[in-house]
Amino acid sequence: MTDEIDFVNGFKIKRHDPWYRIVIGKVYHWIMKLMFGFKIRDVDCDFRLIRRNIFDKIDLKRKTGIICVEMITKFHQADLRFVEVGVNHYNREYGCSQFFNFSRLLRTFIDLFKLWWEIIFLYSIKEKSSKGINYDKKIKVKNSGVIRLQFYNDFSDGNLVIGESEKNVPFEIRRIYYINNLLNSNAIRGEHAHKKLKQIIFCINGSFILELDDGTNKQKITMDNPYYGIKLYAKLWHTMTSFSKDCVVLVLADDYYKEDDYIRDYDKFLEYINKND
Ligand code: TYD
Repeated sequence: MTDEIDFVNGFKIKRHDPWYRIVIGKVYHWIMKLMFGFKIRDVDCDFRLIRRNIFDKIDLKRKTGIICVEMITKFHQADLRFVEVGVNHYNREYGCSQFFNFSRLLRTFIDLFKLWWEIIFLYSIKEKSSKGINYDKKIKVKNSGVIRLQFYNDFSDGNLVIGESEKNVPFEIRRIYYINNLLNSNAIRGEHAHKKLKQIIFCINGSFILELDDGTNKQKITMDNPYYGIKLYAKLWHTMTSFSKDCVVLVLADDYYKEDDYIRDYDKFLEYINKND
């Protein structure tokens, strides 16, 4: 287990079970993958190594065997990093499985459906309630890009969203600032570029339009998803408009405020990038 890994999950190299259990197991896995979108191979392999502190943030509610499905889904939703390791699986030598009877299977499928409803369906509605932004859309301007923050969805207890210097925030954070109380819907902010400063801008509540211009390409991005940040690196003219009243803009910067790093005149910006490209 290295620093970059949050959990290790096993997978059975070869399953030593009667053929019908192997078939049922394969069908079950296929359905689970389809319903929950697992990225790991074997959700039920009970060989796992998990960092203890993950459970300070992720709360598991299930009490039956489907707790594995709940756990892996929540791990994926929190963007935890994992590796997989093959483990041997041996024949059962004593006793027989208590699981394979009709009423237990039926109960498990009902519970799985409830789980899917709660942590996939309702979750995706909450995620997509952000109005139509597609952050996967390519950023066309230079000196920009998208970063995604790690987050833990605690459902009605809120979301915990995390940015860390030199990890998902690709520089050391020296300064943060935020803009709130945007009561004037015609407010225009920004309208400048920087010579050296690197920043990442987030809309952590509400929405606004971010206009980016690298001197050649222009792009408008609707900011309304608190988990994504847009890089505002040097030599990128940026303007923010159309703020919703509840909008809160958060900016992380890699340096202190220095007025001489600003270019506040658009013609001077074009001149600067022509000289410094
Ligand atoms: P400015 O960067 O022009 O705001 P925006 O781009 O959002 O329209 O900053 C407005 C004023 O605030 C300006 O006089 C400088 C001051 N300021 C600081 O003193 N420290 C800071 O970190 C920032 C961002 C601004």
